[in-house]
Order: sequence, then C-alpha cells, then structure tokens
Amino acid sequence: MKKKILILGSIFFLLFGSKNTLAQNNLIPVKVDSVLHLMTLEEKVGQLNQYTGDWDEATGPITKDGDKQNQIKQGEVGSMLNVKGVKHSRELQEMALQSRLRIPLLFGEDVIHGYKTTFPIPLAEASSWDMDAIQLSARVAATEAAGSGIHWVFAPMVDISRDPRWGRVMEGAGEDTYLGSQIAIARVKGFQGDGLGYTNSVMACVKHYAAYGAAIGGRDYNSVDMSERMLREIYLPPFKAAEKAGAATFMNSFNDLNGIPATANVHLLRDILKGEWGFKGFVVSDWGSVGEMIQHGFVKDNKEAALVAIKAGCDMDMESRSYKNNLALLVREGKVPIELVNDAVKRILLKKFELGLFDNPFKYLNTDRESREMNNPEHVKAARMVAEKSVVLLKNDKQLLPLSKNIKSIALIGPIVKTVKQNLGFWSIEWDNDSSYIVSQWKGIQNKVSSNTHLIYAKGCEINDSSHAGFAEAVQAALQADVVVMSVGEARDMTGEAKSRSNIHLPGVQEELIQAIYATGKPVVVMINAGRPLIFNWTADHIPAILYTWWLGSEAGNAIADVLFGDYNPSAKLPMSFPRTEGQIPIYYNHFNTGRPANNDNDRFYRSAYIDLSIYPKFEFGYGLSYTTFEYSNLELSKQKVRQNDTITVSLKITNTGKIAGEEIVQLYLRDKVASVVRPVKELKGFQKIYLMPGETKTVTFIIEKEKLSFYNQQMQWVAEPGEFDVMIGTSSEKIKLKSSFELLP
Ligand code: NOJ
Repeated sequence: MKKKILILGSIFFLLFGSKNTLAQNNLIPVKVDSVLHLMTLEEKVGQLNQYTGDWDEATGPITKDGDKQNQIKQGEVGSMLNVKGVKHSRELQEMALQSRLRIPLLFGEDVIHGYKTTFPIPLAEASSWDMDAIQLSARVAATEAAGSGIHWVFAPMVDISRDPRWGRVMEGAGEDTYLGSQIAIARVKGFQGDGLGYTNSVMACVKHYAAYGAAIGGRDYNSVDMSERMLREIYLPPFKAAEKAGAATFMNSFNDLNGIPATANVHLLRDILKGEWGFKGFVVSDWGSVGEMIQHGFVKDNKEAALVAIKAGCDMDMESRSYKNNLALLVREGKVPIELVNDAVKRILLKKFELGLFDNPFKYLNTDRESREMNNPEHVKAARMVAEKSVVLLKNDKQLLPLSKNIKSIALIGPIVKTVKQNLGFWSIEWDNDSSYIVSQWKGIQNKVSSNTHLIYAKGCEINDSSHAGFAEAVQAALQADVVVMSVGEARDMTGEAKSRSNIHLPGVQEELIQAIYATGKPVVVMINAGRPLIFNWTADHIPAILYTWWLGSEAGNAIADVLFGDYNPSAKLPMSFPRTEGQIPIYYNHFNTGRPANNDNDRFYRSAYIDLSIYPKFEFGYGLSYTTFEYSNLELSKQKVRQNDTITVSLKITNTGKIAGEEIVQLYLRDKVASVVRPVKELKGFQKIYLMPGETKTVTFIIEKEKLSFYNQQMQWVAEPGEFDVMIGTSSEKIKLKSSFELLP
C-alpha cells in the first residue's frame, strides 16, 4: 500500500511539475487519475463544493456558517464565486495551496455583459444580429475577467423566453431558437477564445439548464410544464449548440421541469446532456438549488437533496452545502456509489488541468496585467461599436432622425438623460465605485454637438414617479428648443434575477410626461431604456421618432449620440415580440396556425383571437428600421423539387435605395405546409447582415439543407417529411418581401 502511494505520489509531482499544459493535453486524463487516486473521500467532496466570497457583493442569499478560509486550507472547497480582483484571489489561492494536495481553486463570476468595460445587456446585443460583434464582446469580457483572476464566467445565458414579464429576458437572446443558437455559439467562442489554457480565455458556463425561460406566468423561479417536443425543438437547441461549440461547463436552472427539479433531473442531465450530447465538462448547480429541492417538496432534507442531485449528474454544489455536509456519509452508507463522486471530481479536475492551474495556480493572478486589461482603450472602442449596433430604430416619421450636429438648441428631457450607472443595466460589475469611465447620455450628446448647439436639460420626473411637479419645467425647456430628445424607461434593476413584473408599461408618469412635451408641438425623439420589451402604445402611436436603446453599457452616451446624429446608421432588429398589453403574453412569431386562425384584425368571428385586441404585436420579432431604405427583388430557388440529402440555394437581390450607407438584416423564414405534427406558421432558418452603399445592390444567398426542414415527428424522431415548404424572405417576421416554395421529395 505504502509503495503504491509512493509511486502515485511521484507521478503526481512529476506531472504537476511539468510545464505547458497546452502542449500536453493528451496527458491530462492520466494526470487527473493520478490526483484522484491520492484523494480522500472528504477531499473529493471538497472539490464539489463551491462558496461565494463573503467579502464582495453577493449574487444570492449568503449563508455565513463555518469558516470558509479554514475550509479552503483543509481542501474542503473546490471553487469560489464573487471574489473580485487579483489581490484577493491570490490570498485565497495561497490558502488552497496550504491544503494537503495543493489543489488550486477555481474562481467563477457572473460576467454577463462585460467586466469593467460594460457592453450592452445581452438582449440588446442580440438585437444586433451581428455574430462578430457579439463574439468580440464576450472576448473582451473574457480578457478583462481573466486579467482580474477569474477562470470561469457564468455565461452565456441561453434561455429562450416568450414572456417579457420575466425579468431575466435581459440576460438572454430573446424568443427565437435559431437566432439564440447562433448567439450561444458566438458567446462561447468569445469567452473561451483559442482554448482553455490561454491566460485570456475563461470557461463558459451555459445556463440555465433547462427551460427556465418558460417559467409559468414569467414569475422567476417558477415551475415549467412543457412537452418533450417543445423542449427539444424550442428550448434545448441553444444549449446543444453551445455544447457543440465546446462550452466547458453548464449550470442547472432553479425551476422544476414537469415536476422534477432541473438540479436532479436525470433526463436532462444524464440522458440528454451527458448521454446523447456526450458532454465532457462539469455541471454546477445554481445558487442553493440543491438545497432548494426541500422547498420544492422533492426531498425531505439536505442529505436526500445531495443524493438525488449527484445521482442525476449535478457535479458541483453552489452554496447549498448539501454535498459538503452529506456526500461522504452517503458514500459510506452505500447510498451513493463512489464512481459517481469520482466522475464528478474528474470532470472538475480536468478543467483545472486544462486551464493550467496545476502547473501554475497563480497563472491568472498578475496585477500588472490586471491594470493593463482594465484600462485598454481597444476595449472601450469595442463597447461603443457593439452598443451602436444594439440600438433599434422603431419609428422615424418624416426622417426626423438623424439630427444635425449644428442644430441651434436641443432640450434633453427625462429621468435617464443624466444618470450614469443606470446605463450599465443589471448584472454589471461596478468597478471600484468609480463611475468616471461610464459615459452618460448627456455627456455623449454634449461631446457630439458643435459649440453652436445649446443643450437645455430638464428631468421632468423620476423613473417610477407619481408626481407631476417637474412637468412645467420640462415643458418650458421644450418650448425653448428646436427639437426635444427624451430619455425614459425602466430602472436598471427592474429587470434581472428576481425582477419579474406583472405590469410592463413604461413606469410611473413617464408616458404622461411624453404627452405633455408632445403637446408643445415641438419635434420629439423618444429613447426608451429597458431590459425587456415594454408597453408604450401612446408613445408608439404619436411620437415621430423612437429609439429602443435597452441598456447599452459604459459607452451608452457615445453610442446613443452616434446614432442620434447619424454617425452610425441603426441596423438592429428586435429579438423579441413587443406586446400591446400584458394580456397578449405569451406572444411570439413562430406560433401554430390553429384550426381557426384569424387572418387579420377584421377576422375575429369564432377565430383564435381576442375580441378586444389586435392579433399583432405592437412591434414584431425581427423588426427595426434604418435611416436608409432597402428594396428586395429577384428571389430565385436553385430547384423546385429537392431530394432528402440534397440542398437548395435561395438567392435574392437587395438594393440600398436611400441616400446613405446602411446595413440590412435579411431574414429567411420557412414553413412546412403539412406535416405529421403541426408546424409553426414560420420559423427563422437563416439571416445575413448586409452592408450597402447608397444605390448599391448585392446578391444574398442562403443554403437550405435537410436539418433546416427537420422536426420531431410523432415517434420523436428527428425527420424531414416530404411535402411543400414555403420560403419567405423578410425584413421582419411580419414584413415578408419575397415568397416562393419548393417540394421535398420522399
Ligand atoms: C443565481 C443565478 O440564477 C445565476 O444565473 C448566477 O450565475 C448565480 N446566482 C451565481 O451568482
């Protein structure tokens, strides 16, 4: 026995001592095994235990029991979250290296849309439909986070959601599976860069697995009840795409799925993720979600919670201590096979090796690099560029926008004009309490206009106000100006985790303020800042120019000014349908036709429609304007009939018919006309963002292959059934410009 330990020990030190993990990736499984063999059961369980730092801001309910620092020194902790900065991480890593086996800690953090340099919220970035921009945003975030000692970001969040009441829509890519999958891939690639082991790469964590975005009523943490077909066709594809793109880790969701909490869901974790998809990374629970199975009424205590979670394939326990306090005992009692614990530990050690932490636990901990990355002007440029691409132009009657930089006077009115931190949106990291790097909208506009332009400011009201006291001053400001630009919206913390709202109208008296300013007769531009689709029907019907700016991050002011004054021509399109009232939710473009479809708003007699509401959303999925105009023509299909394993090329011409250069997002939708299970009225299956100079024409092509025609049939097989398919090319999901069809042969 002694001899065995000696041999294993020498292998262990030989392997740990060796340099450059990147070159020796094939040796990693051997190294993992060698470490595993040296570990006691308690040390193994320690690797599966993750705590939050008590020292920084927490992102969940902290349980301050026990002495975490001592536990780290005893090898009882595998990972920490919410530990910011090189200095502090180094202190903790040094403690971990005092443990018997010197296994380094993993540091994780919610880096959701940038680290110090804050990018637009993910839903805003999704509006860009620009995969390069989204990948770049994740790359910059990874570079800064890694520079600050972080190995692991809890992103991308890839939950599809059709319910804007759910506060967490801000973290995702909206309602569409295809767009969401492309964005999931771009984000994983951005975070993980050239691969784990490079000091500017971090592990991605795909969350929340799974179906969290379908929480009933849009209420956070709520239950989900859905068919297997809906799960696999709508909600799982972005997870699968992220897994295929190489995502290192997954996070469970808080919800139960058809009565079984996701954290202990064997079907999700063992059958699909680790089985069908062959996922080799590890799964972390969400915060306390192992222990919360007691509240779900699924287990009676933390011991049973640990039992069902480890059996299902949840590898790491974030903050519930169920593993820490029970897993070793469960193994000793013979209730949990040691192989399950070993598998979980190996998955975590594998990532620690791949990151190169065994070679150098301080690899990510360099204060010079930290300060360099945190002050990199290239990152700021990238944030501005991505922010510009995220602004959606909803309305621009009589081409009120762009404004001239030489305009004599502009009244800037509204509660968000001069706010600073609001621009970051939820899930942002406030850097050292220093907000000087955040460009407010006031500052951005001030920087942009010429010295001949007089800016007048009035707040008018607070974001969620009931008082009209500031209206008179705002009206006066408007009356003195040539044009009014208003900035209104939700507060940044009205969306995000635990921020579901039953009322998603523009809060407080803001829409009344807009009415009062409109009544002055001045031309009015309204900018709406929010983390979800809001309802603002009066504004949409009366105000000539509306920009949906979401939350744009630290460069918000500059990006907004670029768009307002035409230095950037808006190109974004909505990734979610905007409802007319809360009663219209869930509303999404890819619904079924039903047996009694309403074909328009006059067609309601015994139809699938509300008798008191339009059948259409206020603004549809895929909608967004430009300062220029585009014409679509010449749709051609390479064939009218296609065999199963063949492809069709769809081509069309697009022309910029306006006077300035601009980008258009050309959208391809398909409809399977008749199938053995009913199919949506249309499904996005491709898109391209095309840049055109004035008068320029380009040919756009899409390839349609079997995969794009496939769905789960009655036997739950993934098939493409013979028959007719409609091909629709749109500038949005409703505004279809060109149409054709083809037949899939048996
Ligand atoms: C709970 C959230 O649901 C999850 O998204 C986040 O990553 C963790 N808390 C950690 O903060």
